Amino acid sequence: MNKKKIIIFTGGNGRFGRVFQSLNKNKKILFPSKSEFNILSTNNMRKYIKRKKPNYIIHGAGLSRPMSVHDKNIGKSIDLNIVGTCNIVKVCVENNIKLIYFSTAYVYPGKKGNYNETDALKPINNYAWSKLGGEAAVQMYKNSLILRLSMTEKPFVHNKAFYDFKTNFMFHIDFAKILLKLINKRGIINAGGKSQTVYNFAKKQNSKVGKVSYKKFYGKKSSIDISMSIFKLKKLLSKK
Ligand SMILES: NC(=O)c1ccc[n+]([C@@H]2O[C@H](COP(=O)([O-])OP(=O)(O)OC[C@H]3O[C@@H](n4cnc5c(N)ncnc54)[C@H](OP(=O)(O)O)[C@@H]3O)[C@@H](O)[C@H]2O)c1
Repeated sequence: MNKKKIIIFTGGNGRFGRVFQSLNKNKKILFPSKSEFNILSTNNMRKYIKRKKPNYIIHGAGLSRPMSVHDKNIGKSIDLNIVGTCNIVKVCVENNIKLIYFSTAYVYPGKKGNYNETDALKPINNYAWSKLGGEAAVQMYKNSLILRLSMTEKPFVHNKAFYDFKTNFMFHIDFAKILLKLINKRGIINAGGKSQTVYNFAKKQNSKVGKVSYKKFYGKKSSIDISMSIFKLKKLLSKK
């Protein structure tokens, strides 16, 4: 990446943002606070953009956990994940800024697994609908990259992990290490680690982690497999 390029990262105070920020202390990446760069106000963002003249916006701000907040407070979920992302797309279009958007593996239907970037989508919960709403606006702007992510904190935060939920968890720190290698790409990239159950992922780090059923926990009829093919990601990263 050209060192003279200016990058804004939104959501620098968030779970992933803090990890990304600590890894990039010596790089010229801007991490504006919510008041300096409020995704709910295009005018507020325009002012910051006018001063800093960024080439890229990596958009990590939004509403993620707990998942239940997207059922209990639909308005907030729509505002932060859909309207906020639409606002960012608008300011990127106006200023020809490359946009990198963090979506989620949850947009896939969760049935067959091994989903490709071109597979049909059917979000498995309201959080994923809100992220797909954001994707819809980003898709309209071709100078963009959508990353469908499966990631979590290190160390794994729970005492028990789902044995009937398959995904591609990678730790935040591992995604933070590859993110800047991807920002010049366009389109959609699935990003995560090996396809496996959450339990198998967690067990590798903490042998004492217990087992819990996703089906029972959420009262679902079948287990979930939102695992993604990360072939494209691996191919891109292997290129020099
Ligand atoms: N965590 C995961 O495992 C995971 C997996 C897949 C995708 N993602 C996506 O990755 C992104 C980061 O996730 P995360 O878990 O790190 O999120 P997070 O901890 O919930 O952080 C969200 C960030 O958004 C900021 N924010 C909230 N309202 C804002 C506003 N109006 N204007 C500007 N910033 C605002 C928050 O600032 P304050 O702290 O100041 O409120 C915070 O820094 C999200 O888009 C999420 O959907 C995450």
